Amino acid sequence: MPTITIDGTAFTFKEGLTILQVALENGIEIPHYCYHPALSIVANCRICLAEVWAPDPRHDNRLEPIPKLLPTCQAAAGDGQVVYTDSPKAIANQRAVMEYLLINHPVDCPVCDQAGECYLQDYSYQYGRGSSRFREQKIKQPKKDLGPHVLLYMDRCIMCTRCVRFCREVTGTGEISVVDRGATSEIDIFPGVALDNELSANVVDLCPVGALLDKEFLFQQRVWFLKRTPSIDGITASGDNIFIEHNGGRIYRIKPRTNMEVNTYWITDEVRFGWRFVHDEDRLTLPAVAGEEPFEDSEAPIAYETAYARVTEALGAAQSIGVLLSPMLSCEDAFELARYVSQQEAPVAFAVGPVPFAGADKTFPGGFRVYAEKAPNARGVRRVLEKFSANVLDYDAFVGRLRRGDLSVLLLTGNYPSDWTTKELLEALGERGGRFVVLIDTLATPLADRADVLIPSATWAEKAGTFENAGGRLQAFERAIKPIDYVKSESQIALDLIAAASGSSPAVYDPLATRKQMADLNGLSEFVSEVHLPPADEKIASDMQVVEL
Ligand code: SF4
Ligand code: FES
Repeated sequence: MPTITIDGTAFTFKEGLTILQVALENGIEIPHYCYHPALSIVANCRICLAEVWAPDPRHDNRLEPIPKLLPTCQAAAGDGQVVYTDSPKAIANQRAVMEYLLINHPVDCPVCDQAGECYLQDYSYQYGRGSSRFREQKIKQPKKDLGPHVLLYMDRCIMCTRCVRFCREVTGTGEISVVDRGATSEIDIFPGVALDNELSANVVDLCPVGALLDKEFLFQQRVWFLKRTPSIDGITASGDNIFIEHNGGRIYRIKPRTNMEVNTYWITDEVRFGWRFVHDEDRLTLPAVAGEEPFEDSEAPIAYETAYARVTEALGAAQSIGVLLSPMLSCEDAFELARYVSQQEAPVAFAVGPVPFAGADKTFPGGFRVYAEKAPNARGVRRVLEKFSANVLDYDAFVGRLRRGDLSVLLLTGNYPSDWTTKELLEALGERGGRFVVLIDTLATPLADRADVLIPSATWAEKAGTFENAGGRLQAFERAIKPIDYVKSESQIALDLIAAASGSSPAVYDPLATRKQMADLNGLSEFVSEVHLPPADEKIASDMQVVEL
């Protein structure tokens, strides 16, 4: 294997890598702005330049200095090379580049959203001069509205062209380009063509400085206050790996989490901004029981007790039970609810709730796929239910059975980001007083008014579980924020109902324990052996430490 020495340490490497790639793979930091592993290499920011010595075949492979500094992002790593990123020449270059990049950069860190996660800040501290010799007028450039999600503060741009290359190479849409030349060059969109593709907001993550900004996150929160929980797309069937970033029980933004086997470095705007319903004003927060006065907040324990008693009574007396489990639920939710209902004496018909689709799947030139299926776990819910029943119905077949007057007691679940109920379902249910309907859901819908017992449930961000994505990959996600008000996860509701039926005290939902039970009781051993767990070391759970100055 070829060997390269970087700043005094020798590393073996695979042929074809650049010096910067070898360094990054081995945890050596070389500053870089324009380089990104998913984009073409342009070597235009010049901060990564290093002094390189290489064996010279004309002189018996004697180690000789290459006269000029080399851009390590572009220069191929070679056997026997010795690289210095901390030699006087390399350091002089780093300082010169930082001084140059800051010539026209405004000193507006206190009001910049990027502050705290800005490479210009970090590299100024680590590699900058600490003072500027520039006394002339800074060039002022305008703020621009690039599209529905992205703003450009051109003053802050360092012309790394990551955003330009992203739109050319990953989305193939080419909305962003460099206009003009030299000191007056600018990033811009073509007149009349907004930055409006399904992946547009990824340029915000790509921008190493605060030039490209997320409109929805603008001035919402300083990034050092955010806690970060690794999670999975809870909106579509992609299984994209994400971070939910939150503070004080509120989500502020969702960011992509790199997983080369799933979403690489990107997520869709739909996944990025699809969390709003978690804090929707129409969230259901307390149980409601037909014939009882609406419960007050202070009566939450009584509300649950009353709701559970009514459900226990209704299911115990049922002739036949229909269970509709939503594709928005986790596998654990599906398992615990199915386990609860299977303990009843009446025969049970299981069905998977409606699976929303929008158009067809779309693959971008860079290979990223946007899924038409707008539910995270249709396969996982079905996989679990098939262990309880040989004939799991789809939504239409379920509604068909309701129309025939079949199924006397229903347990329905929602947890969709918007109203999911259909006219067909509401018509088939008929008026209150006929079939007994238990609804476990998150948002107020017409079905909530029809339900005999309504139990509010937690969204995916408020609970832990497992989703199976469109590719059949099982991925666990963690609870990011506490459930709002008095809501509970469907798993916890099921455990409470199991306890209410037997008169015992309820178990506290633990996803690991549930997955073990799934393997032990129902032969779902893949939930012990094949679930991809989120990396614990990428989680930020505590507040930033206050440093005494
Ligand atoms: S806007 Fe950001 S990503 Fe685009 S060229 Fe400027 S610094 Fe680079
Ligand atoms: S990262 Fe090498 S020149 Fe920009």
